[in-house]
Amino acid sequence: MNFDKEYLQATWNQNLEKTELISEYFYDILFHEYEGTEDLFEKTEMHFQKMEFQKAINHIINNLGDTVKLEQYLKESGIRHVCYGITPIYYNVVEVSLQKTFEKVFQDIWTDDTKKQWKLLITYILDTMKKGAEEVRSDLE
Ligand code: HEM
Repeated sequence: MNFDKEYLQATWNQNLEKTELISEYFYDILFHEYEGTEDLFEKTEMHFQKMEFQKAINHIINNLGDTVKLEQYLKESGIRHVCYGITPIYYNVVEVSLQKTFEKVFQDIWTDDTKKQWKLLITYILDTMKKGAEEVRSDLE
């Protein structure tokens, strides 16, 4: 992973109030821009889901310094997402939605550097989740 953990954590901690809006923005953007994604959450209690998503993002940011633990956490999440029916194509869709989400959250301080760092982190999160998912998929084959 080539993101700057100090930079990301500082951006996060200096804007804590705004970061609480992440899950609200994220699902709005995802459902609005990618038709059909809402159907994946047809039976989901969205209030609870948003809280879980928010907790997960918080956990990731707080653990950027322990990449062994973080990698394990993300791979396990990727494995659970296989059970939710999430195939690799969805990761591309979520990548764009997450980028737009962070841009909206941090709009007041959004610069090329901020954009680059959040992009690197998003890629790391999704690639690691996909790695976990691929491991179980190849076990099933
Ligand atoms: C940044 C990457 C992601 C994070 C942090 C994340 C986070 C979470 C969390 C915390 C849960 C609750 C259950 C659990 O922990 O296993 C969950 C469930 C779920 N996620 Fe994700 N997720 C991510 C990527 C995705 C992608 C790419 C999709 C596809 C659109 C997706 C769709 C779902 C679905 C369908 C559920 C199940 C909801 C239910 O229980 O009914 N997630 N996700």
